[in-house]
Amino acid sequence: MAMKSLSFLAVLSLLAITLPLSIASDPSPLQDFCVGVNTPADGVFVNGKFCKDPKLATADDFSFSGLHNARPVNNAVRSNVTAVNVNNLPGLNTLGISLVRIDYGIGGQNPPHTHPRATEILVVGEGTLLVGFVTSNPDNRLISKTLNAGDVFVFPEGLIHFQANIGHSPAVAFAALSSQNPGVITIANTVFGSNPAINPNILARAFQLDPRIVVDLQGKFKK
Ligand SMILES: *[C@@H]1O[C@H](CO)[C@@H](O)[C@H](O)[C@H]1NC(C)=O
Repeated sequence: MAMKSLSFLAVLSLLAITLPLSIASDPSPLQDFCVGVNTPADGVFVNGKFCKDPKLATADDFSFSGLHNARPVNNAVRSNVTAVNVNNLPGLNTLGISLVRIDYGIGGQNPPHTHPRATEILVVGEGTLLVGFVTSNPDNRLISKTLNAGDVFVFPEGLIHFQANIGHSPAVAFAALSSQNPGVITIANTVFGSNPAINPNILARAFQLDPRIVVDLQGKFKK
């Protein structure tokens, strides 16, 4: 009897250890694929989007073209992120994965941001990038490295991260993300560019800034 309850306890504690591990990831897609469509006509509803009838799915539902093209970087941060996710590659629906191409002009950067739903693995195609992420509170440790063509770096889910082109030529990177729709929260735009604006006195206290500087930043990031 004592042995029995002991082994029961052992099984329970094993479950307690392995259960959280097994659910700490994107769910299983449950079927081969579920090409996302926006209307229920000829569709079945699974997992947030309507699925196209699998018999009607074509190769085009699973492909995207043009990622070899360099994108213009005509903005203040001199970078351009081209996302390939469930919104423009509907076959990704339920599969828990997506892709981006990031172009960086000279001196350009992909500014500090986080993906609320995805880990990101990045490979540099051309150029030299200084990349990094910061761990959560209380440590807020910066983990950072200089990458060259062919180097790979991973940004853990939810953590604030960035890439900056520190080379003398344009740079390009590709990254895979562990969600069909990773989401992006760009820190400066979210905090200083919210619509409507957060009260400048609140941000002045939060960032230990003169309220006039906050108002100036809010002008820059206003939508
Ligand atoms: C990013 O590239 C797209 C596609 O070429 C272009 O329409 C857009 O204007 C570019 N964005 C910036 C900030 O240059």
